[in-house]
Amino acid sequence: MKNVNNLKKADKEIAFWLEKETKRQIEGLEMIPSENYVSDVVMEAMGSILTNKYSEGFPKKRYYGGNDNIDEIEIIAQKRAKKLFGVEHVNVQPYSGSPANLAVYLATCKPGDTIMGLDLTDGGHLTHGWKVSATGIFYKSIMYHVDHKTGKIDFEELEKLVREHKPKLIWVGATAYVYEFPFEKLARIADISDAYLAADIAHVAGLVIAGAHISPAKYAHIITTTTHKTLRGPRGAMIMVTKKGLKKDPELADKVDRAVFPGLQGGPHDHTTAAIAVALLEASKPSFKKYGRQIKTNAKTLVKQLMKEGLKLVGNTTENHLLLVDLTPFFGPGGGFFAQYALDTAGITVNKNTIPGEPSSPFYPSGIRLGTPALTTRGMKEMEMKKIGHWIYQSLIAVREYKLPDKKEDRKKYLENFRNKVHKNSKLLAIKKEVKKFASKFPIFAW
Ligand SMILES: Cc1ncc(COP(=O)(O)O)c(C=O)c1O
Repeated sequence: MKNVNNLKKADKEIAFWLEKETKRQIEGLEMIPSENYVSDVVMEAMGSILTNKYSEGFPKKRYYGGNDNIDEIEIIAQKRAKKLFGVEHVNVQPYSGSPANLAVYLATCKPGDTIMGLDLTDGGHLTHGWKVSATGIFYKSIMYHVDHKTGKIDFEELEKLVREHKPKLIWVGATAYVYEFPFEKLARIADISDAYLAADIAHVAGLVIAGAHISPAKYAHIITTTTHKTLRGPRGAMIMVTKKGLKKDPELADKVDRAVFPGLQGGPHDHTTAAIAVALLEASKPSFKKYGRQIKTNAKTLVKQLMKEGLKLVGNTTENHLLLVDLTPFFGPGGGFFAQYALDTAGITVNKNTIPGEPSSPFYPSGIRLGTPALTTRGMKEMEMKKIGHWIYQSLIAVREYKLPDKKEDRKKYLENFRNKVHKNSKLLAIKKEVKKFASKFPIFAW
């Protein structure tokens, strides 16, 4: 466990919760597909004195003095990202994935312009134009969908919508999509309205580098990614401009930079920039290729095991690091909450998630989303996935009798009662004990 002795002396309260969270991460199985464990050296860069510095602007063009060292660090991060992703320009300053995506709107559209993204309940991200997000408020967003039977993008509908609405910007990428992103097809469709195609590879960036997912570099004009998911870096993001993007708009790189600063942000988080650079170096090693491929193999093994146990999965497959379990045969509509809570009690962290054609709502969705990046970082392989798949099924069985009440006013009490009972459920607590013993064999700084 990371030592927080100094913090303990200075701030007992925070140190207490920090230690508890460390214990939770070590003893449990982290299966939220957007999470991972960074290396101790990435953390060292994150926790460094670079957090003290202000450096508004870009390398060699800063508004503050004392930035010679920071310039070098940011240039290294840019160079590493350009090489790894095969792109012409990289901005490593976005604070996280959402502001990175907002910067893309600012660089390519005027308020009120038409944009398109995958519907949130079909797996798209909030920032791809969902109605409650700034991106759906300030832009006219048209949502495309997946085929509700297969969970695959409905290309017929997408093409029809593009011809009808002539969007200026189209997003490809998602937060809960089990297939490989069809970048080439989307590029052809974007050409119909001469739209910018932005590939948001937040989830699959690490797989792209590992060669376990097709790269969008040839097809998209702009690529955005978070740096903390499969890429296994600190919380942050990058915006990349491809050769194709510069061909469409020679000023695109400048537009992206200006959108980030001064358009949206002030000083970059230099400690994050350094940690991104360290993570990119790690991602350039042959061992990262192995890691990326193992994530996918593990996800496929988990799909097989869960199906063998009798669960229904969206598409009954995965082509990346995540899988979506359709729980409607189990709990009826809206059962994701029961599953998430039961698994939490058993020491397995997942998130409730909508399924294509969601019969309930995003807050009470009917599925759960599982992923293998963090477990794979700990060194787990196919054999471990089989075991975990079995525990997942057993945990769901333990709460099978619950159903979300139809009437909204009945839900609060019902869920409270459910929680009170389930966190003492002996079957779940027995699984938790096994999980703890099992997890202790796989350190969180495994590689
Ligand atoms: C596809 C996609 N894009 C963007 C984001 C936003 O990233 P952040 O949470 O860092 O703002 C996420 C986060 O889950 C995501 O899945």
